[in-house]
Amino acid sequence: MTRKILVTSALPYANGAIHLGHLVEYIQTDIWVRFQKLRGHACHYVCADDTHGTAIMLRAEKEGITPEALIGRVHGEHLRDFTGFHVAFDNYYSTNSPENRTFAYEIYAKLKAKGKIVKKIKSQLYDPEKEMFLADRFVKGECPKCNAKDQYGDNCEVCGATYSPTELKNPVSIYSGATPVLRDTENLFFKLGDCTDFLKTWTNTPGKLQPEAANKMQEWLESGLNDWDISRDAPYFGFEIPDEPGKYFYVWLDAPVGYMSSHKNLCDRLGLDFDSYWNKDSSAELHHFIGKDILTFHALFWPAILETADLRTPSAIHVHGMLTVNGVKMSKSRGTFITAESYLSHLNPEWLRYYYAAKLSSTIEDIDLNLEDFAARVNSDLIGKYVNIASRAAGFISKRFDGKLHSSLKNDELYKTQNGDIKISDLNVLINDLCYNLQQASEEIADHYENREYSRAIRKIMSLTDAINQFVDGTKPWEMAKHPEQQDDLHRVCSFLINAFRILTIYLKPVLPQLASDVEAFLNIAPLQWSDSQSLLLNHTINAYSHLMVRIDPKSIDAMIEENKQTLEPTAAAPVAAPSYDIPAIAETCSIDDFMKVDLRIARIADAQHVEGAEKLLQLTLDLGGETRNVFAGIKSAYKPEDLIGKHTVMVANLAPRKMKFGLSEGMVLAASGDGGLYILEPHEGAKPGMRVK
Ligand code: 2FM
Ligand code: ZN
Repeated sequence: MTRKILVTSALPYANGAIHLGHLVEYIQTDIWVRFQKLRGHACHYVCADDTHGTAIMLRAEKEGITPEALIGRVHGEHLRDFTGFHVAFDNYYSTNSPENRTFAYEIYAKLKAKGKIVKKIKSQLYDPEKEMFLADRFVKGECPKCNAKDQYGDNCEVCGATYSPTELKNPVSIYSGATPVLRDTENLFFKLGDCTDFLKTWTNTPGKLQPEAANKMQEWLESGLNDWDISRDAPYFGFEIPDEPGKYFYVWLDAPVGYMSSHKNLCDRLGLDFDSYWNKDSSAELHHFIGKDILTFHALFWPAILETADLRTPSAIHVHGMLTVNGVKMSKSRGTFITAESYLSHLNPEWLRYYYAAKLSSTIEDIDLNLEDFAARVNSDLIGKYVNIASRAAGFISKRFDGKLHSSLKNDELYKTQNGDIKISDLNVLINDLCYNLQQASEEIADHYENREYSRAIRKIMSLTDAINQFVDGTKPWEMAKHPEQQDDLHRVCSFLINAFRILTIYLKPVLPQLASDVEAFLNIAPLQWSDSQSLLLNHTINAYSHLMVRIDPKSIDAMIEENKQTLEPTAAAPVAAPSYDIPAIAETCSIDDFMKVDLRIARIADAQHVEGAEKLLQLTLDLGGETRNVFAGIKSAYKPEDLIGKHTVMVANLAPRKMKFGLSEGMVLAASGDGGLYILEPHEGAKPGMRVK
């Protein structure tokens, strides 16, 4: 049965950059959404920037721009970062939108009509210079208990005491430094307490909340629910409350409404029936993914508001823990407060997606990004195990069998053993068993994804991967290749390996969408769906293997950490994107005639081999269209030979041949270096062997 599913992640504030902490949630959600789509469900993923509130207003003021200009710019930056990590929203919108204003007003009108809005006088700290009321965290002073200096208005980070901001000694406004004064103001409150019975039932309904989250809510409910203050006084960037001049909706009132507005905007674009998702008896599912720090807003206020407004309530709220890096909170001085943008300039997004997936479960426990473990795990699992399967088999398929997969993985011929028993071959049994295990695992892995037990899914996928690699080690295709009578078996084994790789790719596709799409191109097939795991690819021509993923170079991680340290030192004059490696001075000019003497050509790396006894060299066979060249290249530190085969690069084709210890080198490939890494040049798609490079 096709499910109708609407999924959201929390809306990030529009005044800061996306960082690796945020990405735990967006990657977790995106994996779930991609999984649902692969299963054939009608699933939509919406999000938006959370644009209102004092912090955004003041940030814009500091930058000397309007809040609208700030949120417009940040919207672009956020979307760029999410896209960079392959987080594929169906709609990424803004809470400062006409739809959001309409819904906020409609919901407020409903709450008011039901008598759930009351006015009360509240005494609050006020900044007389800025002429604005101050929220708890916008006042600092000395702790009333231990006298520690520079503490926020709600609790002391030194002794842990909690208090109200009016108790702080020597309070100052963090905006102007002025001493705040107490001032009375009339605020609007939502009578949350009236929803206590509903919330008790709702939070205890199985499936709505994880057990840890439900327990936390129970504590809140037992200690009694206060009315919720939903208004803020001008100046405030947000929606002014109808008939209440100078009063604005508190940002947390219209933020979750942003889920609806983003969805409405999507429905209008795609012609979907918005009401069928949001009316009280909707059969569609609504899933919110959030961090544990904003649980009360989603598990108390939001369902209470929806219920009171006669709208449907969420099907489930999925709460995750916070991110630590190397075991501690992300830290600006350690360089572990890493922005998405900075990560992307050094590392492949799918490495992080994989690592997070390997760590995520359905609990609300914090997850740790241990950078050493990150490199080791990705290199071992993805490159050493998974990609390795394709690179081990593909060469034989293209060289020996014209790129065509065998027409049958099962050799149904029976043969007589010496004592006369009828047997099918051991190889056949092995392939049969492995195929069965691979295909059989589909529902178990699907259950893990469905239940957000991604670490279990990954464990299962990697145990299947291990079994395939053991099979390769045992059958030794490279030995089979030496025996003419074993060519059919070799073909069968390698075709099976490509099939195993294809099935593993389906299972990893929610986590590694880009890699899966590269595999689809390599296998010459349409986008894989989950159910494709139950079929095999036979008698089908695949493309030449080209390099699917490289290993993480720990030096790139170091460079990223350094960059994040640098950018956070306020006095550092270095520009934000200063390179973390040395740039050599540009060489003296040469004439165009001199340059034209160098004949640069596109070359296809037809083969790459280790050179016995050479520390740095790989032996490359380069295809120049009409001819091949033998070149010894000093790139062993950066590449495994099998990862290079099939790649295109640029070579100096008219370099005088040089006799080297290991043989004659007939040219040179071009590579960049400078930060300790080595990167061969690769032309854009479409450039063909032998083409001249000018
Ligand atoms: O905590 C935050 O970052 C909020 N901007 C999340 C809002 S989620 C939703 F309710 F809008
Ligand atoms: Zn204290």
